[in-house]
Amino acid sequence: MRRICQPRSRSRPHVTVRYARRELPEFAEELYDQVWLDRIYLSGPDTFDAPSNAEGLSTLFVRCESEQLERLSYKPDFPDSVFHLTLYDGRPSQFAEKAYLLLCTFDWHLEVKLPPSHVEPIRKIADAAGNTLPRLTPAARQLLGRVTNGDIKAESLLRIGDDVRLELLRLTCYELHSMVMPSSPEVGKGIVHNHGRTPPMAQGELWSFFDLIRDSGVLKPREAVNRDHRRNGLYITPPEIASDMVACAHALLPSQSYPIDFGDPAVGSGIFVAALVGEFNRGDIRSAIGVEADERRSALTAERWRHIGLEVNSDDFVERILGDAGDVNGAWLAQKRNLVIANPPYVRSQGLDAARVSHWRSASGGKVGLVPDARSDLYVYFIFAAHTWLEAGGVAMWLLPTEFMFTRYGQVLRKYLLEKVDLIRVHVYGGPSQFSNARVSSCVVLYRKSHPQSTGSVAFTQGGTLMSPVERVSVPWRDLNAEGKWQRIFQSSLQPVGTKTLVTIGDLFVVRRGIATGANRFFVISQELVDALQIPARWRKPVLPKAFLIPSGVIEADNQGNPGNIPFSWLIDCDAHMAEIAAEAPFFAEYLKEIEMEVGDRELVRRRKPFYRQEANRPPRFVFTYMARQNSVGKRFRLNRSNAVALNNYLCLYPLAGVETWLAASVANELLLLDALRSVGNTALKANGREYSGGLIKLEPRELRDLSLAVVPLGLIEALT
Ligand SMILES: C[S@@+](CC[C@H](N)C(=O)[O-])C[C@H]1O[C@@H](n2cnc3c(N)ncnc32)[C@H](O)[C@@H]1O
Repeated sequence: MRRICQPRSRSRPHVTVRYARRELPEFAEELYDQVWLDRIYLSGPDTFDAPSNAEGLSTLFVRCESEQLERLSYKPDFPDSVFHLTLYDGRPSQFAEKAYLLLCTFDWHLEVKLPPSHVEPIRKIADAAGNTLPRLTPAARQLLGRVTNGDIKAESLLRIGDDVRLELLRLTCYELHSMVMPSSPEVGKGIVHNHGRTPPMAQGELWSFFDLIRDSGVLKPREAVNRDHRRNGLYITPPEIASDMVACAHALLPSQSYPIDFGDPAVGSGIFVAALVGEFNRGDIRSAIGVEADERRSALTAERWRHIGLEVNSDDFVERILGDAGDVNGAWLAQKRNLVIANPPYVRSQGLDAARVSHWRSASGGKVGLVPDARSDLYVYFIFAAHTWLEAGGVAMWLLPTEFMFTRYGQVLRKYLLEKVDLIRVHVYGGPSQFSNARVSSCVVLYRKSHPQSTGSVAFTQGGTLMSPVERVSVPWRDLNAEGKWQRIFQSSLQPVGTKTLVTIGDLFVVRRGIATGANRFFVISQELVDALQIPARWRKPVLPKAFLIPSGVIEADNQGNPGNIPFSWLIDCDAHMAEIAAEAPFFAEYLKEIEMEVGDRELVRRRKPFYRQEANRPPRFVFTYMARQNSVGKRFRLNRSNAVALNNYLCLYPLAGVETWLAASVANELLLLDALRSVGNTALKANGREYSGGLIKLEPRELRDLSLAVVPLGLIEALT
């Protein structure tokens, strides 16, 4: 349908799930690997255009819904965007408008089953030079043949008039509807209660999405949007953080079936609801209530989560509980929650209405027994207001800026956490900000609404994730006090090691990254494929397998120089012209052409000429696993006696000239040097490297160069001096 509406479009039909300026953090990959997509729900045609443009529509898409994709969704600049499959996106056109009206005559609400698959990074279709034919998959080609009795071929799509195109669209849509059964239970608007709070937003970001994206798919900065988000404290939660938080809450709840009454006082589009639905059995979620100040967002969120019965209240959470109107109309407020998880808005105190703040402070005194500092940001009032909503014994978990741990205004909140509830855990996410559009550093605070366990202790963790932190300090409750600054708790006992205490790796080796192919799946191939494609030996190189497939510290060579004691693959690395390849190895040439179609557009691949020649990289003498768990530090070094090259899952160590001479003096020296490398301690590694979830530590070449060896073979020192 995309090709019928816009035959010249080069974009692969897709649903955008994540669109953030920041790269996917390492620990998020796990979540993206975990979630399988096996169905998608097509709810019907829609447009991002504002109503009544006489020139017609400039956008037309089919709205989609998917609980599985919601769990992964992150578009910080477009918090209200909906999943969609674009059919038309260009100049305003009468055709697009007619197509929209035509598609509206169908029932839709189709649940389409898909072969189970994961979300993938954006790939563009490689565009062979001069090829301007509409791109159709074999299945789409077949479909076109079927609905037109073979009368219209892909190439004719460029030439047919609008009327024929509309007829074709009708036939295709009819075919779609006859292939897929409608799924009625999903229809409906969702539960939304309007408490008459805010006026709807002046202009929906729903349609600003397309304003901001050019054909290239590059996001144009629009400061105004961001400013607006800052004003409203709208830093939406990355899905990997939401899932981490919910998983942690799950681990805390009684293992027996525990009926959850979930509440999110700043529900936004419901990323915590998505994580909840992914983490718990449906039967365990007894009820779910969200509160959201933005009326339009409330309606969208209620619709998005209608199938789980999420009740969304368009209301001001703080004002409803602490404001002068009190809780008179707050029906939702009477329904106490036993699990509250939220990322409240971080609006600065200066942006808050002074009269309201004054009311909130005195109401907090009455309801919680503590009066927030006048300079408190909005999130502090959220926590105090939630005290009323949380059931006794219930669990609350907040994603907060770390500021409260060391600011003066944070002192009352620290006091609250120590004296009014049972504080269980404080976790600070390491590294740069978790939000792609904000610079705050964030932490999670977890407590139970019950008396503080003054004889117990509180776990402060840092780095990695909540479920798998890098550092943990257990602080006895009686040692914590609100006047003290909590971030001192984290002052690590680890200091980066001095660079020149002994001999560093950089004194002995040139350290380089392994080869980045840009598409290992296609360039790193098995022996079977090599045989099938009859690739001559000079156009391929043996390549080291993943580290877990190398049990020992030494990779031995067979009599041809290939690895002898481990499984290995082949790396395609060839500088011959295509014509030469086609003459000598026609199957291989075909394969390369296919690769080019698939991945020829990727940055790394495109830059190489020819694209199947890899960067020059000699077989390294030693390798170091780029990323691994901390408890296996020494084992990350391996001696490579084979001719195998290494990919960028390794750092490659090439001995400097003096070291090379010393190595050549005796076969035993290689092993002595391996032992020396393996003497690098965990502490040094941890202090120099970057930590990720599950205790994974990654070292960049510069960081590896700076590591000191704890022992150095005597003869080597002499050889160097
Ligand atoms: C930081 S965002 C979090 C959204 C979503 N829960 C997430 O984690 O991605 C805060 C949300 O709270 C809403 N909000 C702001 N002030 C509010 C208030 N006083 N009462 C209820 N919701 C509010 C904003 O519209 C926004 O959707």
